[in-house]
Amino acid sequence: MKFGYFDDSRKEYVINTPKTPYPWINYLGNQGFFSLISNTAGGYSFYMDARLRRITRYRYNNVPLDMGGRYFYINDNGTVWNPGWSPVKTELDEYECRHGMGYTIIKGKKNGLKAEVTFFVPQNYDGEVQQVVLTNEGSEAKDFAIFSMAEWCLWDAQDDCTNFQRNFSTGRVEIEDSTIYHVTEYRDRRNHYAFYTVNDTIDGYDTDRDAFLGSIYNGWDNPETVKAGKASNSFADGWSPIASHYKKITLAPGESKTLIYILGYAENPQDKKFASEKPANLLTREAWVLNKEKAYAMIDKYNTPEKVAAGLEELRTTWENLLSIYKVDTPDDKVNRMVNIWNQYQCMVTFNLSRSASYFESGIGRGMGFRDSNQDILGFVHQIPERARERLIDIASTQLSDGGCYHQYQPLTKKGNADIGGDFSDDPLWMILSVASYIKETGDWGILDANVPFDDDPEGKHTMLEHLNVSFYHIVNNLGPHGLPLAMRADWNDCINLSCFSDTPGESFQTYTNPKFKAEGGYSKIAESVFVAALFTYTGPAYVGILEHLGKADEAAKAQAEIDKMKKNTMESAFDGDWFLRAYDANGEKMGSKECEEGKIFIEPQGFAVMSEIGKEEGADIKTLNAIDKYLNCEYGLVLNNPAFTKYYIQYGEISTYPGGYKENAGIFTHNNAWIICAEAYAGRGEKAFEYYSKIAPAFTEETSDIHKTEPYVYGQMIGGKDAKNFGQGKNSWLTGTAAWNMVAISQYILGVKPEFDGLRVDPSIPAAWDGFTATRQFRGDTYEITIKNPDHVNKGVKKLTVDGTEVEGCIVPVAGDGKTHQVEVVLG
Ligand code: BGC
Ligand code: NOJ
Repeated sequence: MKFGYFDDSRKEYVINTPKTPYPWINYLGNQGFFSLISNTAGGYSFYMDARLRRITRYRYNNVPLDMGGRYFYINDNGTVWNPGWSPVKTELDEYECRHGMGYTIIKGKKNGLKAEVTFFVPQNYDGEVQQVVLTNEGSEAKDFAIFSMAEWCLWDAQDDCTNFQRNFSTGRVEIEDSTIYHVTEYRDRRNHYAFYTVNDTIDGYDTDRDAFLGSIYNGWDNPETVKAGKASNSFADGWSPIASHYKKITLAPGESKTLIYILGYAENPQDKKFASEKPANLLTREAWVLNKEKAYAMIDKYNTPEKVAAGLEELRTTWENLLSIYKVDTPDDKVNRMVNIWNQYQCMVTFNLSRSASYFESGIGRGMGFRDSNQDILGFVHQIPERARERLIDIASTQLSDGGCYHQYQPLTKKGNADIGGDFSDDPLWMILSVASYIKETGDWGILDANVPFDDDPEGKHTMLEHLNVSFYHIVNNLGPHGLPLAMRADWNDCINLSCFSDTPGESFQTYTNPKFKAEGGYSKIAESVFVAALFTYTGPAYVGILEHLGKADEAAKAQAEIDKMKKNTMESAFDGDWFLRAYDANGEKMGSKECEEGKIFIEPQGFAVMSEIGKEEGADIKTLNAIDKYLNCEYGLVLNNPAFTKYYIQYGEISTYPGGYKENAGIFTHNNAWIICAEAYAGRGEKAFEYYSKIAPAFTEETSDIHKTEPYVYGQMIGGKDAKNFGQGKNSWLTGTAAWNMVAISQYILGVKPEFDGLRVDPSIPAAWDGFTATRQFRGDTYEITIKNPDHVNKGVKKLTVDGTEVEGCIVPVAGDGKTHQVEVVLG
């Protein structure tokens, strides 16, 4: 069952009922100011950091689920309704929500009155613009009232939802004309404020939540003021400050009225925090006055429909340009819409927000993840390489000089997060992969010389190359008994906690390590990760390539020897006959082996082992891929492990705490499905690669949205696996490494257009039925118009490659570097 449709020409998903199986959301903003907005206009805003600088309040795990943030209410002669249906839930005569590239348009119609609200965050602007167009489509004049509402969060979202003994007494506002300012804690240690304004006169306001609702027993679905058709002009003093504008409107038949609301954020320099005079019309309880110059300028920027239209147009052009860098036209519409629109869009969102704020991530739990953000770069780097570069330097600066890493950092402070600490065994390797992908995209070798400190030597002069070096050797210097990398606290799979042995409720599997390992440095020196071994042999060659390019032949040879050794060790100690083991646990026992009772085979190491060609000469790659198909493949994707764990294995940790089929315990973890898609394509098995791709790519799940539940335009982290009661049900949508990795899988492996150090590789691995496809790729200042022909209907194999009519050996298009458009023709066979 579907709940809407794709409108590809406008790059929108159009939802035609408010009653989606889960809130289907969009993200507004891609620089500093961000908003989440659902199809019923729920959600919230923050500046830079969803935890430390939350602007509007939102209650997670609420009942009903999606409730609060900012809403418009209309009282039309006693009928109270919202353009997005919720929270009042009056049945609408018409409803539509269009989620587009950085904007959302919600339309509602009731009793002949239409309200169309366009929400967006303009480029280079720290505020959400909400343009409301009200049209009387009936045949008689209409008198009605519109109320806005935004509930302020007291800045630190964690404190805001826990520290009520203080927070119920700190709230402060100022009101000037049609603008309500939120100034809690401003006088003292903060220099930032928020405001909510409308570009017209108002007939009243409310700034105290309980006054707006009329009673502490009322919810957002039942605000007394709205029902009474009149604001109470409340002035907040502590408790929960809100901002609500009340406006009376009369519309003749056919007449429209446009109101522009802005929810903004501004910071003042320390010496310009206060205004010297108190205007006569200012409502405040304070002796001091906020300096509002910045707000005035922001309001001025979008206070007419023309200015709003220009802001929207700028946003549209920004996205047109971003999405023109890589574009394809394949025989499959769903592939086209994923590659050309939604997957790239999601890559921007994951790049911006890592795993911090979604409808499954509360914005207070996690900052930016080291491994997550590095991987996000893989799908984003072609869009705005300069931002990727800046990010790489930020992330690398949280690394320690021995190559270890803080697992997370806060975007506002850019400092490693001490609460979670480090010792995740895979972290450093992702840094090699992301820096290499940045160089491959841009040819900017200069990044290697960039000055990048270590967290434990902030003043020291260090280069990015040094960071790659310590990353590589952090693995080499931390091997276990089989010469495989130590698993440490966890690797990519946060839930395989081989040094935890936790038997006490509440101990965090990610931060707790059993005291028995204290003497050994905090984690087992026996437990080894085969996944990290395979990731090392997959990423290591990029490091070697970098050294070779720099003319450091000896260092390159030394690093290559380590990679060769790791492959040998993996084949000798970690190939289980038909697939690769997952790990050795702290007791030295195999994990992910035929010998195990449960969890005999795991997905994670397999793809990277295949792509590293470990044991290829003995057929290990094909055996492994066949085993995945046999044991992990099911209707909705590839499960993470099989059979699922049915009891708690203290030696494995969190993975065995999940009911079978969910999350890391045999859920369909889409992120690592992508690694298998890449590996199948790499091995030339285009059919399988495409089969797996089409099982998880969101556009392909649209028809079964009732089962899949989450948005059909973006990936979620997980789909319930075959052991789950809710088989096929998506969860944790939006913020997942799947976005970047499946962008890599489809664009670089299946469609096969892959930046390399020395040019653009074109080597597709596609379904044999395809006659071919075309692609446009902007690359290092040139544009390549690529035509793939598949006359013999093969999966893979470049028979002939020409650039501007001249045949080129192999399948790498050399960099022209002349800023021109070049025709690339590839014949498969
Ligand atoms: C989840 C993981 C997550 C980890 C850290 C676990 O409960 O299953 O997916 O990475 O927590 O937040
Ligand atoms: C989600 C985390 O963000 C990611 O870092 C991790 O790799 C996966 N969960 C698997 O545990």
